[in-house]
Amino acid sequence: MPVRRAVCPGSFDPITNGHLDIIDRASRLYDVVHVAVMINKSKQGLFSVDERIDLIRQVTEGFGNVQVEAFHGLLVDFCKERDIPAIVKGLRAVSDFDYELQMAQMNNGLSGVETLFVPTNPTYSFLSSSLVKEVATWGGDVSHLVPDAVNRALAERLTKP
Ligand code: PNS
Repeated sequence: MPVRRAVCPGSFDPITNGHLDIIDRASRLYDVVHVAVMINKSKQGLFSVDERIDLIRQVTEGFGNVQVEAFHGLLVDFCKERDIPAIVKGLRAVSDFDYELQMAQMNNGLSGVETLFVPTNPTYSFLSSSLVKEVATWGGDVSHLVPDAVNRALAERLTKP
């Protein structure tokens, strides 16, 4: 039987409970889930790509079938190189849909890769890495929005001079 693979792509700066929920659900549907962390040289993140990968590995270790890697360039090339036929994305609200649909259609047109949309758990429908960083920067409590390891990493990064 061929191994059924999917990819969950993103910036993950840092991973939130919303991302983790989608990865968890994808890991129940597929044999192997690749988490692809995009390298964006034109955008300085709060965490380096290696730090993001390290955090994602820590919090997905328990799933047992998740592989975390960096990528740059086109997502469809990442998929082609690893024989991945499906992209799994969370949809938080209708506002996500327009751009996500464009990307899904472009990716399908480029290489035939399919995109599967998973409705985000309503608990996380307002959640984004940017908002988490903003709230944490001003001392707000984000402990219910991110895994513990991320909460600690945020506290350490944002309190250092
Ligand atoms: O977490 P993000 O920043 O919303 O993730 C966006 C991401 C990485 C999924 C998207 O920008 C992407 O797929 N980038 C890779 C480059 C690419 O393939 N672009 C064409 C998309 S149609």
